[in-house]
Amino acid sequence: MKPFDDDTSLNLRHRLLGLKGVVMLIGGSDTGKTTFARQLLAEGVAAGRTIGFVDADLARPTVGPPACVGIKVVSTRADLDMLHEADGLRFVGSTAPQGVIVPHVVAVATAVEAARRRADLVIIDTTSEITGVVGQTLKYHLVELVRPTAIVAIHRGGELDPLEGMLSRFLSTRIEVIDTDRSIPISSPLERQAELIKAFQAAFASPLERWRVAPTVFAPTLPEGFPVNRLHGMLVGVQDPNARCLGLGAIEASEEGSLGVVTSVGEEMRGLRLGSMRIDLETFKTTRVRLRQLMFGV
Ligand SMILES: Nc1ncnc2c1ncn2[C@@H]1O[C@H](COP(=O)(O)OP(=O)(O)OP(=O)(O)O)[C@@H](O)[C@H]1O
Ligand SMILES: [Mg+2]
Repeated sequence: MKPFDDDTSLNLRHRLLGLKGVVMLIGGSDTGKTTFARQLLAEGVAAGRTIGFVDADLARPTVGPPACVGIKVVSTRADLDMLHEADGLRFVGSTAPQGVIVPHVVAVATAVEAARRRADLVIIDTTSEITGVVGQTLKYHLVELVRPTAIVAIHRGGELDPLEGMLSRFLSTRIEVIDTDRSIPISSPLERQAELIKAFQAAFASPLERWRVAPTVFAPTLPEGFPVNRLHGMLVGVQDPNARCLGLGAIEASEEGSLGVVTSVGEEMRGLRLGSMRIDLETFKTTRVRLRQLMFGV
């Protein structure tokens, strides 16, 4: 049987497509969130709907590059086939939620707002962090801010119980439950890392350009006298003047004080948001950086 082709899943999708507002998908890794979202979008398109898709998964993106929240408004089969090409991006700057909960939550909320201007139903696909302080804090504030009409919880055993309990107790959220297919193989950390490297590679595909930039273009602002060579390799969001991210960039900086950004989206760049990762543009491997430590040594 095809994924989520049982009556319960089909009925649920039918009911969800009758809703307006926001539907958020939650579930552990490889439970089928993205598969379910794609099915919902496909069935919506077949029924003549226009649906906004907000991809809040930073590490395994469907829409746009990693470390960003992607927006895609889907009304045709062609839109569905080009889901990876975002209509809009919001930069978060990391592929893991630790240390970026505020930018992540704000990115999703503003992405939903943008999608809702063009579609009366918006679907949010989320990261697989569902447990622990970070996962729960992230989901709590996302739901608090976005106020989904319904949450679809994809169950694998009881792993979602604490999160669902919290969301219904504090935020009175309507939760619809389906079960994952236990035969789905769980991808290994190595497979995930290889996928992430590929996704970054695609985000830095040629034609790349090197733009010289001034030390004043960054958010947050660099402290007075900051040695710019410390920024070498930092992942940045190339921003327009309306808080939108045009795409990713990587900083090139030398001991002598030259400063530039490597990106394929420099044309309309207004400023650069510093991410919380460094990227090696030869291997596309990334490492985590604590911004506060980078900037102020604390
Ligand atoms: N119900 C299902 N039956 C069989 N295979 C499925 C089912 N749902 C998903 N799959 C397959 O399992 C894999 C993982 O699915 P998917 O990417 O949708 O999960 P996810 O929850 O979005 O994962 P992640 O947390 O990594 O984003 C995919 O290869 C998909 O084709
Ligand atoms: Mg997914």
